[in-house]
Amino acid sequence: MTLRQEYLEAASEYLARLDNSYSYFPEDDTPVFVRGKGSRLYDPDGNEFLDMVAGYGALNQGHTHPKIVASLLAQADRLTHTSATLSDVKIEFAEKLASISPIPNTKVHFDLGGARAVEGAKLLTRAYTGKSKVISFHNSFHGRSTGSLSMYDADTFHHLFHSPRDYYSASYPYCYRCPAGLKKETCNYECLNGVYDILEENKDIGAIIVEPALGARGYIIPPKTFFKKLRRICDKYGLLLIDDEIQMGLGRLGSMFACEYYETVPDIILLSKSIAGGMWPLSAILASKDIMERIRPGTLGSTFAGAPLGCAVGIASIEVIEEEQLCRRSLEYGEYFMEELHKHLSEFPIIGNIDGIGLGIGIELILPNGEPATEEAQKLQLTALRNRLLLQRGGPAKNIINLIPALTITKAEIDEAVLRIRENLMLVLGEPEVIEHISSVKPVSI
Ligand SMILES: Cc1ncc(COP(=O)(O)O)c(C=O)c1O
Repeated sequence: MTLRQEYLEAASEYLARLDNSYSYFPEDDTPVFVRGKGSRLYDPDGNEFLDMVAGYGALNQGHTHPKIVASLLAQADRLTHTSATLSDVKIEFAEKLASISPIPNTKVHFDLGGARAVEGAKLLTRAYTGKSKVISFHNSFHGRSTGSLSMYDADTFHHLFHSPRDYYSASYPYCYRCPAGLKKETCNYECLNGVYDILEENKDIGAIIVEPALGARGYIIPPKTFFKKLRRICDKYGLLLIDDEIQMGLGRLGSMFACEYYETVPDIILLSKSIAGGMWPLSAILASKDIMERIRPGTLGSTFAGAPLGCAVGIASIEVIEEEQLCRRSLEYGEYFMEELHKHLSEFPIIGNIDGIGLGIGIELILPNGEPATEEAQKLQLTALRNRLLLQRGGPAKNIINLIPALTITKAEIDEAVLRIRENLMLVLGEPEVIEHISSVKPVSI
């Protein structure tokens, strides 16, 4: 029996009392990790895994980055909590974020985790615009708190809500499967007609909330001018543009703020995940003073929000992104990753689309008729896990393999990842069930 099995057996008694349903692997295959370094994770038996998930984007700086660990330890020895009052590191970190923020006259509010930042943005919207509702996009994900789920247009959670939803749902550009048959490069945003229709019919909307690329639900990348279009709509209708960069910010798309890639300045930017190098559940709301000061003092906040420990780690985390030039690296290595993926995977008809910006890449698996190859994507994720390669899966039909490695990943690790994805794909394509499934689907005639 391996140590992992011993752990699981010992835990089974307790697992009945521990909700592990958030884990994206089946229970029998759930890995147990005891150590992480850079892009590698280790289980109790010393097995090494190559991590292409990086804590869903919480580890842009890699596992246990030495500078971030050192800042955590030093701060833990100095000052960990001050209730809601100020600390030196809280002031320093707010100053740092405000100085790099693209929003003029930025004021920073710290909170705990992504969903709470989303909730805060909703409160700010109500306070600033006097309107209670927002427009959010199909398949966007903004967290699992009651308020953020109330903007989440997915069947999985609808059974939870008996109260009216406080959002209107619009189509996010999904160019690979554009219902209007348009091409990304030449599109005229027919998908945004829905936004105009919603705005013409409803007068209770204060903001549009948007992800710079769809993250948790599959890496789907909109055309480059998408954000500018949304900015214009917001200006025309007097709405706030809330940019949820919780997953795509801090270097992932090749710039410190994802909105910089789109050359657009939103009204509110939400950051979390890698803001504290995966070591503290910190989030930040960035907005102009004008917006931030419209809310009554004390309305936003939480006991541990902006605690010294989180802020010290936050300062180190941003410094690592700057000092190691992780934004430039994300762009350069992302381009290399995409080229290698195209080179080594394009021969397989099951690969429908490979798209990404920086080190945020989605590989969409399709059947011969172009329909999503959901079962095959699931098998690929599981086979890869059994062979110690961690992949994440998403997309409206769960047929997109998301590659979100640490931005500190090396070229050699990218080469290794590409070859291991290819090897695992070939194993899946050789399974009798998969051969039968694929051959039972008629290709579309062109
Ligand atoms: C874009 C986006 N917003 C919000 C959240 C919620 O963050 P948290 O899980 O820290 O509450 C996530 C989490 O995956 C996310 O990807």
